[in-house]
Amino acid sequence: MKTSEAISKLSIKEKKLIKEALKAKGRAYAPYSNYLVGSALIDENGTIFSGCNVENASYPAGLCAERTAIVKMVSEGGRKIKLLVVAASSEDPVFPCGMCLQVIQEFGGNSEVIAVNKTGDKFQKTLTRTLFPFAFDPEKLKK
Ligand code: THU
Repeated sequence: MKTSEAISKLSIKEKKLIKEALKAKGRAYAPYSNYLVGSALIDENGTIFSGCNVENASYPAGLCAERTAIVKMVSEGGRKIKLLVVAASSEDPVFPCGMCLQVIQEFGGNSEVIAVNKTGDKFQKTLTRTLFPFAFDPEKLKK
C-alpha cells in the first residue's frame, strides 16, 4: 500500500475523483459527530457519483458518505465501482468503515480505494480486496 505520496503522482481521473470527494465533504450533514466525510466513485460507464455522510437525530439512521455515493450509482443504473475515493476529516487518510466495505464489496469487489486526509494533500491507495480479504460476497450464499 502506498503511504501518503504526493497527489501529483496520481492520474487525472484519480485527481478528479479526489476533488469531487472533497467537494462532497463540504455538503456533509453531520451535526452530531461534526465529522465530515465525502466520497466519489467512478463506475463501469465512466460516470462519477459523489456523496456525503447524512446523519440523523436517530443516530443509527445516519448514512456514511461512501454508501450515499454507492446508492446514488445503483439507483441511476450503475452496477460496478471501478475506483472509490473517501475524504474524511482526519489529519491522516481514513479508509471506509466495515459496513461500507461490505457494500463496496457487493458492487466493486475488484475496485480500488483511495483515502485522502482532510486537506486532500495526503493519500493512501489500495484494493477493496486488501481491505476486506475474507469478504462475504454473493458466492457465499451458495449452499
Ligand atoms: N463515516 C463515513 O461517512 N464513512 C466512513 O467510512 C466512516 C464514518 C461517517 C459516519 C458518521 O456520520 C461520521 O462519519 C462519524 O462516524
